[in-house]
Amino acid sequence: MTVRLEVVAAEAWADRVADELIARVHERPSLRLCLPTGDTPSTLFSRLVARSAAGEVSFAGVTIVLLDEFLGLAAGDPARCDVRLNRELLADLAPAPAAIHTIDADAFHPEAAARAHDAVAAKGLDLALLGLGMNGHVGLNEPGSGPDSPTRVVGTAAATQEAALGRYGAGRSPVMGITLGMDRLLAAGEVWLLVTGSRKADILARALNGPEGDDCPASFLRRHPRLWLVADEGAAARL
Ligand code: PGA
Repeated sequence: MTVRLEVVAAEAWADRVADELIARVHERPSLRLCLPTGDTPSTLFSRLVARSAAGEVSFAGVTIVLLDEFLGLAAGDPARCDVRLNRELLADLAPAPAAIHTIDADAFHPEAAARAHDAVAAKGLDLALLGLGMNGHVGLNEPGSGPDSPTRVVGTAAATQEAALGRYGAGRSPVMGITLGMDRLLAAGEVWLLVTGSRKADILARALNGPEGDDCPASFLRRHPRLWLVADEGAAARL
């Protein structure tokens, strides 16, 4: 196992991740970057906006590839991943990134939208930032997803629907979604698993120290040769 584990105080967590990401963009201005949405990366995104505005970094050469998306929510629904990414990061980034690949949540044929997004990811991801679901999911690779799971249309788990309704303000329960597959995430040059808050302590301990298994898809990330697990003290409490 080659996990690089770093535990950071909650108030320093977002800046620590931002420091590292800014360093990657400086090293490789044309970085191909997979981004998640959700509550975890919100503070990171606000730091990136501030530091871009301060002239510390430019994303002008960066290609952004969205990790996942809900289906069946109205355009503009605050829980939609494209809406959230735009609201929390892209709308305030100047100059804009070179390319932004969201997922067509309104496609008449969601399978075709999944295939199109997979083709984007197949060109390679230098770095994939991921959050950890309360049920061990990564993206919408819900429990039951193995390490070879492809990019696809999925049914969402109950815990995922609860998060969308309760925390993200979805107008209705998103029972379906599209996610990059575990295969594409494990093929990224680097993977960062971002985990904050004491409510994630049990599932993080399960993902890191329990057996690898599809009951907790995040456990498969341990196979990645360059995994950085950056947690705050609350999330790391049971490690
Ligand atoms: P959260 O979601 O950051 O809102 O906790 C993480 C996830 O479900 O992947």
